[in-house]
Amino acid sequence: MCGIVGYTGQADVGGILVSGLRRLEYRGYDSAGVALYADGDSELTVVKTSGKIVDLEASMQAELPESKPFSSMGIGHTRWATHGAPTQINAHPHSSDNKEIAVVHNGIIENYADLKAHLIADGCTFNSETDSEVIAHLVQQCYQGDLRAAVTAAVKKLTGTYGIAVISTKHPGTIVAARSGSPIVVGLQDDETIVASDVSAIVSRTKQVIFLNDGDIVTATGGDVEITSMSSTTVTRESTLIDWDVDEIEKGGYDHFMLKEIHEQPAAIATGLRGRLDETEGTVRLGGLRMTPMDMARVPRMILAACGTSYYAGMVGKYYFEDFAGIPADIQQAAEFRYRNPIIEPNACMVAISQSGETADTLAAVREGLMKGATVLGICNVVGSTIARETGRGVYLHAGPEIGVASTKAFSCQVTVLAEMAIMFGRTRRLSASVGREMVRELARLPDIAAAVLEREAEIKVIAEKYAAAEDAFFIGRGYMFPAALEGALKLKEISYMHAEGYHAAELKHGPIALLDEDVPVIVPVPDLPDKEKTIGNMQECRARKSPVIAIATEGDKEIDAYCDDVIRVPRCQEFIAPIPVVIAEQLFAYYVAKARGCEIDQPRNLAKSVTVE
Ligand code: AGP
Repeated sequence: MCGIVGYTGQADVGGILVSGLRRLEYRGYDSAGVALYADGDSELTVVKTSGKIVDLEASMQAELPESKPFSSMGIGHTRWATHGAPTQINAHPHSSDNKEIAVVHNGIIENYADLKAHLIADGCTFNSETDSEVIAHLVQQCYQGDLRAAVTAAVKKLTGTYGIAVISTKHPGTIVAARSGSPIVVGLQDDETIVASDVSAIVSRTKQVIFLNDGDIVTATGGDVEITSMSSTTVTRESTLIDWDVDEIEKGGYDHFMLKEIHEQPAAIATGLRGRLDETEGTVRLGGLRMTPMDMARVPRMILAACGTSYYAGMVGKYYFEDFAGIPADIQQAAEFRYRNPIIEPNACMVAISQSGETADTLAAVREGLMKGATVLGICNVVGSTIARETGRGVYLHAGPEIGVASTKAFSCQVTVLAEMAIMFGRTRRLSASVGREMVRELARLPDIAAAVLEREAEIKVIAEKYAAAEDAFFIGRGYMFPAALEGALKLKEISYMHAEGYHAAELKHGPIALLDEDVPVIVPVPDLPDKEKTIGNMQECRARKSPVIAIATEGDKEIDAYCDDVIRVPRCQEFIAPIPVVIAEQLFAYYVAKARGCEIDQPRNLAKSVTVE
């Protein structure tokens, strides 16, 4: 998704905007721009370019006069195209006709066409194809000497979602930012303020931040910050101290953030377990759920809602709640859930799973669940994210920032948290203390299990390179390996651009097997688990069609060798744990296929790290 950075203070505003935008590159974008102010100027200076930050810097070098003392305030943006191609003219910031006002915007203005027609009829001149440009003209039209009042009046006319930052030559040193449905974070310092769409752009200058709520409008001049509502009354927002350092969003010697984050999984999982496992009672302590045992015992059904990789983690969670807690559980694709007028019975419990905590469809599912009286829990990684704040209860992954667009450590940590939750719910029902203790002990092994898979990296790399030229691939699995197969296919396709499909192993013969031949490898997670024999049968079906079969199998399980062409080995573990080591192996497989194919990996084409639009 798009990235916003705004600065007011006395430091090098251009440099701060560019370095802030660099921190947001991982979110995915295709054009960028800045708007700057120099004392005495009657017009803002805007520099925009299609392409990357490096192109923007070159344009700034070429277009900004050396001598010009840009100072006091500026705004910058990285755009992920929604309305209008990724061109220089469609890049943000967008300016008012008199060039006194500039705006950067994240989100989608659903009524922009109507607004644009009225503005043109009022004499405004539009330059871009974007929805965002209407905001710049609206602010100018509403401006009567007070920038905050003008922004407040302008956003009241908008339908849709927005996170914006606005500056004006009439208000040197002042930035006004507002949010509804698209995040805005305010970085606090004594003599400067940074606003951004993501805390990654702020944390190198301050860790004290405020996350705006929908409807908030912040006005900042240097270090003076005031937050007001849509009715222009002052509101108070608690500040948050960010608990990680800027070096955690550096690559740390790895070629890609994705590889770094794959290797961070043992530590990230360990963090997600720390202080939560109660081996004595055979249960787990998750205070953030704010649910008593009686609350949990009353829950008639679990509804899990998510998108993408988080959805596949939710599929594993469904099995957990049913297997350990005996609670019927549904996993819902969040976009489908929000429009289905879902049936939510009294005492139903929803779990929204989202690494970013900003995915628009998942956020909408949260709001639908709250509207229908469900208890809604959030499983998020980003502290202070919208889903975390609007659910008001749940569990943080504390996995550290996940920069690579392809989600890796978040999946492992989400599944770990879901297992913890299911044990907790289970112990209020038929899960015994002894079985609970056994499961808690197995969870405690997870960091070592994850580390053991990473030790197989070199072998996995060789196998990945062997199949890197394929144009199509299948991942098939049964039981807990079915979501693992789906996640493996998503990882491979989204970073290597190889067409890959995940399927239930039993489903292949109901059609897709028609696609198999010697050029279509089939990756089969088949750990030494109860339904292994059935999956072996499916492997034989694939080999009968000459497809190469790559098994992801348990260390020491020699039986499997006769049914595949290559084997990736993972540690022996209990069935409920198996999705994590298997998916870590799939992550490495996908990474090295993509690397062999010379792909971008951290910022795959067309993708964004957080999909904050429908
Ligand atoms: C996964 O690798 C993708 N980047 C994508 O499917 C992602 O999982 C999905 O957009 C959900 O994101 P969230 O967890 O932040 O809600």
